[in-house]
Amino acid sequence: MFPDTYTVDGHYHIAIGGVPIRQLAEEYGTPLYVLDYDTLIHRIQSFQESLREMNPPGQAFYAGKAFLSTAMAGLLKDQGMGLDVVSGGELYTALEAGMDPARVVFHGNVKTEDEIRMGLSRGVGYFVVDSLAELAAISRIAGELGEQAAILLRLTPGIEAHTHAFIQTGQFDSKFGFGMIDGIHEEALEQALRLPNLVLKGFHAHIGSQIFDEDPFVHNAQRLMEFMRVALERHRYWPDVLDIGGGFGVQYGPDDDPPQVPRILARVNETMRRLTPPGYPVPTVFIEPGRAIVAEAGVTIYQVRATKTVPGGRRYVAVDGGMGDNIRPALYQAAYVAQVDGKNPETPAGVYTIAGRYCESGDILVKDIALPEPEVGDYLAVYGTGAYNYAMASNYNRVPRPAVVLVDKARTVLWVKRESYEDLVRNDLPWRRPEEGRWR
Ligand SMILES: Cc1ncc(COP(=O)(O)O)c(C=O)c1O
Repeated sequence: MFPDTYTVDGHYHIAIGGVPIRQLAEEYGTPLYVLDYDTLIHRIQSFQESLREMNPPGQAFYAGKAFLSTAMAGLLKDQGMGLDVVSGGELYTALEAGMDPARVVFHGNVKTEDEIRMGLSRGVGYFVVDSLAELAAISRIAGELGEQAAILLRLTPGIEAHTHAFIQTGQFDSKFGFGMIDGIHEEALEQALRLPNLVLKGFHAHIGSQIFDEDPFVHNAQRLMEFMRVALERHRYWPDVLDIGGGFGVQYGPDDDPPQVPRILARVNETMRRLTPPGYPVPTVFIEPGRAIVAEAGVTIYQVRATKTVPGGRRYVAVDGGMGDNIRPALYQAAYVAQVDGKNPETPAGVYTIAGRYCESGDILVKDIALPEPEVGDYLAVYGTGAYNYAMASNYNRVPRPAVVLVDKARTVLWVKRESYEDLVRNDLPWRRPEEGRWR
């Protein structure tokens, strides 16, 4: 929930990475995304450590969809972690940061021809293929470019992980991947082995996000291993790689109990070793953690701009951000913990609802939270906002997106500049009357 370096002084002033949030707000403005370097590094390194313990050692590809910027890609490169991208834009960002394209897996249930071409010509490590149409397109484009495409097939194993329906992806009725009940996965396997210019490296299945149980990860590996045995019997094909995706849960609130990643990976490894037929190598495990690396490193600072109490209703606290910088509460009823800077969280004055500034009644950041009285001008910290906040931010209401700043040992460095009004109109063109003759 809190970043590793979270502290509160005797006057209840909050600091992250040794920098008071008031100072951050005054220097960079609000709303402001703050990322804690220590938390990021600890999360990255503890994944790397658990993967090294596996036999053979596993590999991590951070899911860029959770949060990506050029600096983040640079940090991953420094730490020797790969990257999972889902678009040409994410790939471009990684390449701008100097990341080795061989350490990139290219995901997404839709990849345009241009994106496939870009991935192939820049040398991405693996394409994770989602459909028969995509298999054919990659095979054709690789042929045109004189390349061989290393691919994984994305399978949908029918595992129901306990998480919100919109972030559950491994169940049978999903828009992602080749389902494993109707035989389409067998057809995909047959085509992947038959079509030219494709090198099938293995299989992938991501079963959902914010998963707290260990068992779904183990069942996923088991289901994939069973299919590998079928592939071996029918096609004499045995894969190098088994990619079990991301989805490792994090703590957003006091009731969340994240799973032990080292134990999950040890159990996955044990399952795979047990199910690998004698004489064949145990496939290398790939994982794609996003949220588990970045969510708890992030804090968003807002300033309280208005308060009101509805007679017989709620007490609202309106802040200077909202669904434009954090869509998750509106999108999937995500719950967050917030604190008022400089006020004792142990002595709440009541239950408040933190409302955003956007023109939607549903723009509520935190519903019904006990707080010391928030007053206009106070700074409010919302925790656990590192993942799927900046990444999903929009310019709704033409509000510029906030800056992202990294903090460490009482120092700060800007990762993403705050957008300006000029940025908002950068791609706009002026109005032209039809009679001006400039229409095509
Ligand atoms: C294929 C794939 N891999 C990895 C992830 C990252 O999930 P998380 O951020 O929950 O770890 C996702 C999330 O949607 C995904 O779809």
